[in-house]
Amino acid sequence: MGKAHSIALATYPMYVWPAPYYPVRDLIVEINDELAAESQKRFGFNRAGTSWREAVEDPEIDVIDILVPNVMHYEVVMAAIANGKHVICEKPLALTANLAREMADAAEAAGVVNQVGFNWRLAPAVQLAKKLIDEGAIGEIRSVRSFWLGEFFNDPSVPLVWRFKKDQAGSGALGDIGSHAIDFSRFLAGDITAVQGIQHQFVTERPLLSGSGTGPVDVDDATAFMLKFASGATGYIESSWAAPGKKTSAGFEVIGSTGSLSFNWEHMGELQYYDGRDSADRQGYRTILTGPAHPSGDFFWPISGYQIGYADTKVIQIADFLSAVAGTTERPQTTFREGLKSTLVEEAVIESAKSGLWTPVQND
Ligand SMILES: NC(=O)c1ccc[n+]([C@@H]2O[C@H](COP(=O)([O-])OP(=O)(O)OC[C@H]3O[C@@H](n4cnc5c(N)ncnc54)[C@H](O)[C@@H]3O)[C@@H](O)[C@H]2O)c1
Repeated sequence: MGKAHSIALATYPMYVWPAPYYPVRDLIVEINDELAAESQKRFGFNRAGTSWREAVEDPEIDVIDILVPNVMHYEVVMAAIANGKHVICEKPLALTANLAREMADAAEAAGVVNQVGFNWRLAPAVQLAKKLIDEGAIGEIRSVRSFWLGEFFNDPSVPLVWRFKKDQAGSGALGDIGSHAIDFSRFLAGDITAVQGIQHQFVTERPLLSGSGTGPVDVDDATAFMLKFASGATGYIESSWAAPGKKTSAGFEVIGSTGSLSFNWEHMGELQYYDGRDSADRQGYRTILTGPAHPSGDFFWPISGYQIGYADTKVIQIADFLSAVAGTTERPQTTFREGLKSTLVEEAVIESAKSGLWTPVQND
């Protein structure tokens, strides 16, 4: 490997979160040249460009980080892999599971490090939940309820951007935020084998970006589904970007045979743990404030409860990726294969919402 050059593709002004954390920030690509120049300056990149093709073909670059709209993920990822780059791609990995499968297969065949942007599961409290489950702290998992509820697109005046178009986004709340809830559930309790879903649309028309008239929305504002895990446990997942009062209500409740766990991103430094083996006179949920004793907590502060934020989970994600690029670890935790598995669940949910039937989930 040459120098650890990096490139973040697009997404200024909202989401160039990982950029400041790369050891070398070589080239940032954004199709809007004014934004490209501004973000180069703001995030300290050596160069700015407007062509992602030039970027993926540049022999000086080793790592491509793809943060463009969903419809572009497949093409950019496949070109990056063909040029031997290590690659990070945002979720949902692709518009369809077939495309996501091709991406995972291609990355594995080329032997490049690959990672999908499931940073939410990398929060220390979520990783601690998994550690406690693996250590038997709640016994056998009986059920998992995961959710990602927000209110940011409840406002019908939000214009008709790519997120509201099926041919550019794949799905609405389901793929955009439900994918993280699916990832929570899969991470904590394993593969999902069947789903039964319902989808809702609350805003059917939105103002056109041109400023006059409206156009149709053809994705879900909310999706909910029941599910079965391969382990025999059951579950429920709910995602909505039109849930008034919910700011970033992303989390889970895991009920086990001897205890339970509960987490909500709105208090992302805390994990709630109930141990049913405590003596009767002191039973109750305890709040564990995460810190250096917890997975990746030692990256930040030497004292528990100092708190971390959303961007810090992107730092953890990049660290996980770069450890694999450097050969310290075999692979990142959230590989393209994990992205594919979430996409397979999403497709089964959409099919089930149409048919009204329980629908099996393929897992490869
Ligand atoms: N993991 C997370 O927490 C998280 C959070 C937000 C968004 N995302 C994902 O990140 C991706 C981007 O989302 P967003 O909200 O930043 O979108 P956005 O629409 O705000 O930004 C997309 C950017 O891509 C640029 N762009 C479009 N076509 C381009 C091209 N051909 N070449 C270069 N640049 C181009 C646009 O000009 C724009 O600046 C999506 O896949 C989304 O699902 C993930």
